Amino acid sequence: MTIGVLGAGYVGLGTAASFAARGFSVVCADVNESRILGLQRGELPFFEAGLQELLVSALNPIVFTAKVEEACACDVVFCCVGTPSAPDGSADLSYVESAAQSCAQKNPGTIFVLKSTVPPGTSQMIAEHVEHKLCVAANPEFLREGRIVEDALNPSRIVIGVDDEKTLEVMREIYQGIDAPIVETDTKTAELIKYASNSFLATKISFINEIAGLCDVIGADVKTVARGMGLDDRIGSKFLQPGPGFGGSCFPKDVRALQCLARSRGENLEILDATMRVNDMRQKLSVLQVKESLGDLGGKRIAVWGLAFKPETDDIRDAPALAVISELLGQGAIVVAYDPMVKALPAPFFSVIHAPSPHDAICDADALIVMTDWTEFSSYKKTDLKQKVRSHCVVDLRGILK
Ligand code: NAD
Ligand code: UGA
Repeated sequence: MTIGVLGAGYVGLGTAASFAARGFSVVCADVNESRILGLQRGELPFFEAGLQELLVSALNPIVFTAKVEEACACDVVFCCVGTPSAPDGSADLSYVESAAQSCAQKNPGTIFVLKSTVPPGTSQMIAEHVEHKLCVAANPEFLREGRIVEDALNPSRIVIGVDDEKTLEVMREIYQGIDAPIVETDTKTAELIKYASNSFLATKISFINEIAGLCDVIGADVKTVARGMGLDDRIGSKFLQPGPGFGGSCFPKDVRALQCLARSRGENLEILDATMRVNDMRQKLSVLQVKESLGDLGGKRIAVWGLAFKPETDDIRDAPALAVISELLGQGAIVVAYDPMVKALPAPFFSVIHAPSPHDAICDADALIVMTDWTEFSSYKKTDLKQKVRSHCVVDLRGILK
């Protein structure tokens, strides 16, 4: 069986690598030609530990192409294109629609599997959009950036959403032999499992961030509260780390898209309204905390440790660091940033100076803000750092310093 993958981003490359590692012939296409040229030279378009090795060591070398129709000609086509937020917060499905059109034209009758995160009802909508020339399945992806290899090879679960028996049989064949629980269901339910999972994790983060706020007021230690809660395995210790609010390309967009979908059906998901409100507030509070601690920022040199939205990635999409830096620059501060992986920022952040090490970033700085919980920051003592910056001000938004 040949596998086509549309989109060579985080999910597309994770999907292509895992199928190739299992011996399938994989053709991976992207409309971004320079991305494909890089991949043909063996260069990843982003930093992701271990992924390059997995792509290279695949039993069958992956064919990378900018000709979408070559991937569409495969037996089964996995759609891994982006579904960004539209201005009203709903999921913009234009890339998915375009990928489906290409597939329906090139290879009518084929199985088109939606790995992209799409609102419930999208698989059926796409099937109608292409006049039922494709058998559409929903097979949402749960991988985490920074853990793509681990998650692609050992998924926590495989969710297969289909609306016909024949497609189910092919999907079963594709995933046979994988040691993971399989949930078989209809397409709408599969699509909702993905949104509900991301929304639940986002809600867990907002919950601990609210508790963190209360801890500040009453003088309790949120890390110990989180530890004490997490030891109850009904609660679990994961995703109880307070911080400057969740960022990244998925949680904010997916929570908003689910809210939008629910509202369009006359339902209001109150809990998600609160999750987003708390998150927005947390991001604003982080900026306020920085401003309060530093006073007048005009001409001050502020060191920022960490730019990526989380460790082990160079992804800065919706990164909390950018909101804070934007405020600092707006107030006339000079920002010197250090991130182990992010070495440049797009406009309007061109004025940010990139330091080669954490030490260089704080050299001659008035204050330090820690934005991302990279492990290398955990070896620094807050008290030592306070002595090193002029105003003795260190704001550790991740609670990672010793
Ligand atoms: P991405 O932006 O990294 O990659 C998407 C790629 O699709 C881009 O390279 C783009 O050029 C390409 N593309 C757009 N239209 C195309 C077309 N018609 N044919 C071929 N290629 C096309 O996106 P991503 O982060 O991999 O996310 C993709 C989807 O998976 C989104 O719906 C996202 O919500 C979901 N998802 C992402 C993650 C993650 O960790 N990033 C995890 C699970 C699910
Ligand atoms: C998330 C999910 O974890 C994946 O399962 C999902 O597949 C993916 O979204 C997606 O749909 O794209 P990812 O965005 O890579 O993965 O990152 P997470 O590790 O979930 O972190 C998201 C944000 O929450 C980051 O800003 C992180 O710093 C923050 N976070 C996470 C906290 O503030 N506290 C925590 O305890 C955990």
